[in-house]
Amino acid sequence: MKSDGIAVIPVVTIDGPSGAGKGTVASLVADAKGWHLLDSGALYRIIAVAGLAKGIDLADEASLVALSEQLDIVFADGKVTVDGADLTDGIRTEEAGNSASQVAALPPVRGAILTLQQSFRKAPGLVADGRDMGTVVFPDAPVKVFLDASAEARAERRYNQLKNKGLGVNLRALLEQIQERDARDRNRAVAPLKPAEDALIIDSTHMSIDEVVATVMAQLSIT
Ligand code: DC
Repeated sequence: MKSDGIAVIPVVTIDGPSGAGKGTVASLVADAKGWHLLDSGALYRIIAVAGLAKGIDLADEASLVALSEQLDIVFADGKVTVDGADLTDGIRTEEAGNSASQVAALPPVRGAILTLQQSFRKAPGLVADGRDMGTVVFPDAPVKVFLDASAEARAERRYNQLKNKGLGVNLRALLEQIQERDARDRNRAVAPLKPAEDALIIDSTHMSIDEVVATVMAQLSIT
């Protein structure tokens, strides 16, 4: 509660590199609390996929900003609809992730979706998953988590996920892609991937999803 009596809507931020399990943990914590969920990576993926579909060059900042301001994005019932088209699976490919990482490195694009991301903060609370949720988008969040895991563990998890879907993949190529994406996300000039100073750092390399969720829930119960 703020001193003026206005209730502040709580936010848990879960930041970290690709494949650390943020999405799964964020969704389980949101379900357990009955809170809203912001998958900010999906927004960058949508801009990249919609941009490519319109023939926009992924370095063309002005066109990408204009596009991000026009898109009609709906997250509902586990589906992602953009301008009426179902992009749920289309934004989940490795290619879409790599394209998202490119558009996410452009400061004007990040600025263009800042207010949109903050608008997900609705009662009774929000779990926000991304790279800069605790550092830039919700710096006042009472609980901040930085979920990490070794690049090898993250590549192996992704490899198993894709294999279970019956997709042919190469572990070494996945590891290289993850390392390349990490380097771009960590070294960009604006909102680089890094833990907020007040974030709880969880290394999930040797933890199960349930153990990570329990750690986040415990953190929530003491704040
Ligand atoms: O979490 P993800 O894999 O869906 O994210 C896709 C890309 O978007 C990722 O490479 C980095 C970028 N991203 C970002 O820069 N900031 C965020 N808050 C979320 C994602």
